[in-house]
Amino acid sequence: MIYGAGKTLFKVFGRLRPKWFSSGKSRVQDIGLIGCGQFAYATIGYSIWRKYGNRFAACYDIDRTNHASFALFYGLSPDASSATDVIADERVKFVYIASNHASHTPYAIDALKAGKTVFIEKPISVSIDQLRCLASAVCSASAPIYAGYNRPFSGAIRNLRTEIGSLNKPMTLNCFVSGHVIGPDHWYRRPQEGTRICGNVGHWLDLAVHMLSWGELPDRWHILIAYSNTSSRDDDLSIALTSERGDLINIVLTARNEPFEGINETINFQQGDVIAKIDDFRRMTIWKGPNIHKYRYWPKDVGHNMCLIQPFSNIKRDWKEVEMSTLLMLHIANMVINTKSSSDFSFSSELSKAFN
Ligand SMILES: NC(=O)c1ccc[n+]([C@@H]2O[C@H](COP(=O)([O-])OP(=O)(O)OC[C@H]3O[C@@H](n4cnc5c(N)ncnc54)[C@H](O)[C@@H]3O)[C@@H](O)[C@H]2O)c1
Repeated sequence: MIYGAGKTLFKVFGRLRPKWFSSGKSRVQDIGLIGCGQFAYATIGYSIWRKYGNRFAACYDIDRTNHASFALFYGLSPDASSATDVIADERVKFVYIASNHASHTPYAIDALKAGKTVFIEKPISVSIDQLRCLASAVCSASAPIYAGYNRPFSGAIRNLRTEIGSLNKPMTLNCFVSGHVIGPDHWYRRPQEGTRICGNVGHWLDLAVHMLSWGELPDRWHILIAYSNTSSRDDDLSIALTSERGDLINIVLTARNEPFEGINETINFQQGDVIAKIDDFRRMTIWKGPNIHKYRYWPKDVGHNMCLIQPFSNIKRDWKEVEMSTLLMLHIANMVINTKSSSDFSFSSELSKAFN
């Protein structure tokens, strides 16, 4: 129940897919959804429903059971036989994409070309080629695009930002993440889906890029990766990044046992005279010089609600930050694929290689 009663109920419905219950309708139906899996059903559906009611107009999934059960719960006609049908639907002004990772970029490009506002789940792309095509589509699009990296929208990160302002000093950020156990046949593991670096670790790389962007994002980085096991390299590993300015980012992903309450995160931070400890986005303590501030977040606030309503609210993320974090994520995914332990990375040179 750490996510609160409403979200827990949607999560249970997402797993059970009941045939006897529907979420009701709002007056406006203008959202098309591609990928009717657990995240769409329980988290996207809930975050929109709690604020705006059920605004879904159409949905599509390659799995007809997931498609039909989502359509039933959200009161939609299950007629769409492709993502193109959803995008072309005249009622649809907003396209949410929560399908497999390799399909995010092509669906987003199609939706942008059709003039629709796009919300794309993470990762936005699983290769540099995809990122290049997406960036070009975003540049020529008439409608905006938003990404599903939610940690920057959490209460803790927003409160920390308010306490710090924009200190242009080196930061230390340590993220210890107990992630889900993912079986050997899970689709995240398919080579074309970009590894768990794209599937999971991208969240904390993106958080780091977001927090670094409160000041000036350092250009050049050295990256070290320690693998606990070279046969499943993206399950239990430590990634350390140091910048030319002296920033130190460390991300440990461990997935040795299924965490009972879902992903569990401990984040430690220091910059200037500020020290912060974030305990699983449920509590945060900030020491600022001699002052101590304590925060509690109930239900646990990883930022999903605020992130997922970006298309309708005035709190939005700078898309360029997401492109930068994706460049870094793809570089690290490539290191993991090739079992590399050490590498240099520069945002400016990766940007010019990728986009010129
Ligand atoms: N932001 C977060 O915290 C967060 C958390 C969990 C999942 N996610 C993201 O949400 C997305 C969905 O994850 P999930 O946990 O719901 O997985 P899931 O396996 O439950 O759902 C994925 C759905 O996509 C469908 N699908 C696969 N290929 C498709 C295609 N080409 N076209 C249309 N549908 C297709 C599958 O049939 C399935 O129903 C992923 O991108 C995942 O990374 C984000």
